[in-house]
Amino acid sequence: MQCLSSFKRLGGGLALAIFVLFSSNGLAAPPKPAKEQAKVAPTSAGEAGRQYVGSQTCKACHEKIYDDFMASPHWLTTKETRMTHGAQGCESCHGPGSAHVAGGGDPSKIFRFTTARPDEISRRCLGCHQAGVEQRQFIRSTHNESGIACTSCHSIHGTHLEYLLRSKEPDLCFSCHAEQRADFQKPFRHRVLEGLVRCSDCHNEHGTRAERQVRSMPDASLVCLKCHSGKRGPFVFEHNAESTEGCMVCHSPHGSTNPRMLITARVNSLCLQCHAAPAGTHNQNSKSQDCTLCHSQIHGSNLSDLFFK
Ligand code: HEC
Ligand code: HEC
Ligand code: HEC
Ligand code: HEC
Ligand code: HEC
Ligand code: HEC
Ligand code: HEC
Ligand code: HEC
Ligand code: HEC
Ligand code: HEC
Repeated sequence: MQCLSSFKRLGGGLALAIFVLFSSNGLAAPPKPAKEQAKVAPTSAGEAGRQYVGSQTCKACHEKIYDDFMASPHWLTTKETRMTHGAQGCESCHGPGSAHVAGGGDPSKIFRFTTARPDEISRRCLGCHQAGVEQRQFIRSTHNESGIACTSCHSIHGTHLEYLLRSKEPDLCFSCHAEQRADFQKPFRHRVLEGLVRCSDCHNEHGTRAERQVRSMPDASLVCLKCHSGKRGPFVFEHNAESTEGCMVCHSPHGSTNPRMLITARVNSLCLQCHAAPAGTHNQNSKSQDCTLCHSQIHGSNLSDLFFK
C-alpha cells in the first residue's frame, strides 16, 4: 500500500519524467539545446550518465530475444515515431545499456522488468501508451491500485497471442477472478465462456472513469446499450427506475439463477421492492401475478405511461 500511495504522489510529474526518459540524448537522437538537456532525468536510480548502444549490440548476446522481438509489434520501437519518441528499440524499455554491456552483461546495470515494482513497470509502458484512448485511465484503475501491472496480463517477449496477452480471455481474467467464473456458469448468463461476449466488451481492464472499470458508450450512457440498443429510448414514458440507477437495479450483469438475469426469482417481487401495486385493478391475487403480463413494455414506452403494450 505504501508504494502505491507514493506512486500516486508522483502522478503530476509522471508524464514529463517519462517524456524526458524517451527523448533523452541517446546516440541516435539529434543534439538538443542545453536548456532541454538539463531536464533529462533518469527514471530509475543509476541510469544517469548511461548511453544508448543500439539494439544490434544487444543482439550479439540476446539473439533469440532479438529475433522474436523483431517479429513482434514492438519492432516499431526501433523506428522514430511520435509514439516512440525516438528509435531506441530494446533500450526504449530497458533504458540505456552502455553500463550493462561494459559490465559483460551485468544485470544490475540495466532496467529489469523481472524484478521491478509493478508501478515502475507500468510507468515505463505508459511512456508510449498513455496517449492511447484505452490505456488513458490506467493509473486511476483498480488494477493499478491493487498492484497489477501491464505485465500481469501482457508478455513482451513471451507470447505470440493477440495483443501480446499472457493467455486469452476469459481465462486470463479467471486466473485472478475465479469467483466470476461461477457467475457465468449460472443458468441465465451472458455467454462469456462460449466466447459470444467478452469481459472486455463491458469492462476496460485498463480502467475507466466509471465504477468497477465498466465501459461507457461515447455519449456516457450504459455499456449495455451497445448491444441492447432497443432498450435505449428515449421513450415518451421512461421507467424512471432505469434512468436513475441503470439496468443493474433489476438485472445481474454477469449471470443469475433467475430468468432474464433478474435479481429476484419472481418478477412481482422485483416490482414490489419499489411499488405497492394499487388496489382495484390489482386484486389480492395480483401479488402472485406476473406484473409484466400487463406492464409488458417495462423498459419504457412511447404509447402508455403504464407500460402496456
Ligand atoms: C556482452 C553480452 C551482452 C550484451 C551485449 C547485452 N547483454 Fe543483456 N545480459 C547479458 C547476460 C550474460 C545477462 C544475464 C545475466 C544473468 O542472468 O545473471 C544479461 C541480462 C540482461 C537483462 C536482465 C534480465 C533479467 O533477469 O531480467 C536484461 C534486461 C538485458 N540483459 C538486456 C540487454 C539489453 C537491452 C542489451 C542491449 C542494450 C543487452 N542486454 C546487451 C549479456 C549481454
Ligand atoms: C516494449 C518494452 C520492451 C522492449 C522494447 C524490450 N523488452 Fe525486454 N523485457 C520487457 C519486459 C516487460 C520483460 C519481462 C518479461 C516479459 O514480460 O516478457 C523483459 C524481459 C527481458 C529479459 C529477461 C527475461 C527473459 O525473457 O530472458 C531480457 C534479457 C530482455 N528483456 C532483453 C531485451 C532485448 C535484447 C530487447 C531488444 C531486442 C528487449 N528486451 C526489448 C520489455 C521490453
Ligand atoms: C518506446 C515506446 C513503447 C514502449 C515503452 C512500450 N510500447 Fe507497446 N507498443 C509500442 C508500439 C510502437 C507498438 C506497435 C504499434 C501499435 O500497436 O500501436 C506497441 C504495441 C503494443 C501492444 C499491442 C500489440 C498488438 O498486437 O496490437 C501491446 C499490448 C503493448 N504494446 C504493450 C506494452 C507493454 C505492456 C509495455 C511495457 C512493458 C509497452 N508496450 C511499452 C511502443 C511502446
Ligand atoms: C488486467 C489485464 C490487463 C492489464 C493490467 C493491462 N492490459 Fe492491456 N489488454 C488486456 C486485454 C485483455 C486486451 C485485449 C482486449 C481489449 O482490447 O481490451 C488488451 C489490449 C491492449 C492493447 C491493444 C489494444 C489497444 O488498446 O490498442 C494495448 C496497446 C495494451 N493492452 C497495453 C497495455 C498497457 C500499456 C498496460 C499497462 C499500462 C496494460 N495494457 C495493462 C489486458 C490487460
Ligand atoms: C455484460 C457486461 C459484463 C460482462 C460481459 C462482464 N462484466 Fe463484470 N461487471 C459488469 C458490471 C455492470 C459490473 C458492476 C456491477 C455492479 O456494480 O453492480 C461488473 C462487476 C464486475 C466485478 C466486480 C465484482 C462483482 O462481481 O461485482 C468484477 C471483478 C468483474 N465484473 C469481472 C468480470 C470478468 C472477469 C468478466 C469476464 C469473465 C466480466 N466481468 C464480464 C458487467 C460485465
Ligand atoms: C494478475 C491478476 C489479475 C488479472 C489477470 C485480472 N485482474 Fe481484475 N483485478 C485484480 C485485482 C487484484 C483486483 C482488485 C481486487 C478485486 O476486486 O478482486 C481486480 C479488480 C477487477 C475489477 C473490479 C474493479 C473495481 O473497481 O472494483 C474488474 C471489473 C476486473 N478486475 C476485471 C478484470 C478483467 C476483465 C480481466 C481480464 C481482462 C482481469 N480483471 C484480469 C487482478 C487481476
Ligand atoms: C457485447 C454485447 C453485449 C453487451 C455489452 C451486453 N449484452 Fe446482454 N446480452 C447479449 C447477448 C448476445 C445476449 C443473448 C444471450 C444468449 O442468447 O446467450 C444477452 C442477453 C441479455 C439478457 C437476457 C435476455 C434473456 O432473454 O434472458 C439480459 C437481461 C441482458 N443481456 C442484460 C444486459 C445488461 C444489463 C448489460 C449491461 C451490463 C448487457 N446485457 C450488456 C449481449 C450483450
Ligand atoms: C425496472 C426493472 C428493469 C430495469 C431497470 C431494466 N430491466 Fe430489463 N427486464 C426487466 C424485466 C422484468 C424483464 C423481463 C420481462 C418479461 O418477463 O417480459 C427484462 C428483460 C430484459 C431483457 C430480455 C427480454 C427483452 O425484453 O429483450 C433484456 C435484454 C433486458 N431486460 C435488458 C435490459 C437493459 C439493457 C437494461 C438497462 C438499459 C434493463 N434491461 C433495465 C426489468 C428491468
Ligand atoms: C428500483 C425501483 C423500481 C423497480 C424495481 C420497479 N420500478 Fe416501476 N417505477 C419506479 C419509479 C421511480 C417510477 C416512476 C414513479 C413516478 O414517476 O412517480 C416507476 C414507474 C412505474 C410505472 C408507471 C406508473 C407510475 O406509478 O408512475 C409502472 C406501471 C411501473 N413502474 C411498473 C413497474 C413494474 C411492473 C415493475 C417490475 C417489473 C417495476 N415497476 C419495477 C421504480 C421502480
Ligand atoms: C391484469 C393486468 C395487470 C397486472 C398483472 C398488474 N397490473 Fe398494474 N396496472 C394495471 C392497470 C389496468 C393499471 C391502471 C389502473 C389502476 O391504476 O388501477 C395498473 C396500474 C399500475 C401502477 C400505477 C398506479 C398509479 O397509481 O398510477 C403501478 C405502479 C402498477 N400497476 C404496478 C403493478 C405491479 C407491481 C404489478 C405486479 C405485482 C402489477 N401492476 C400487475 C394492470 C395490471
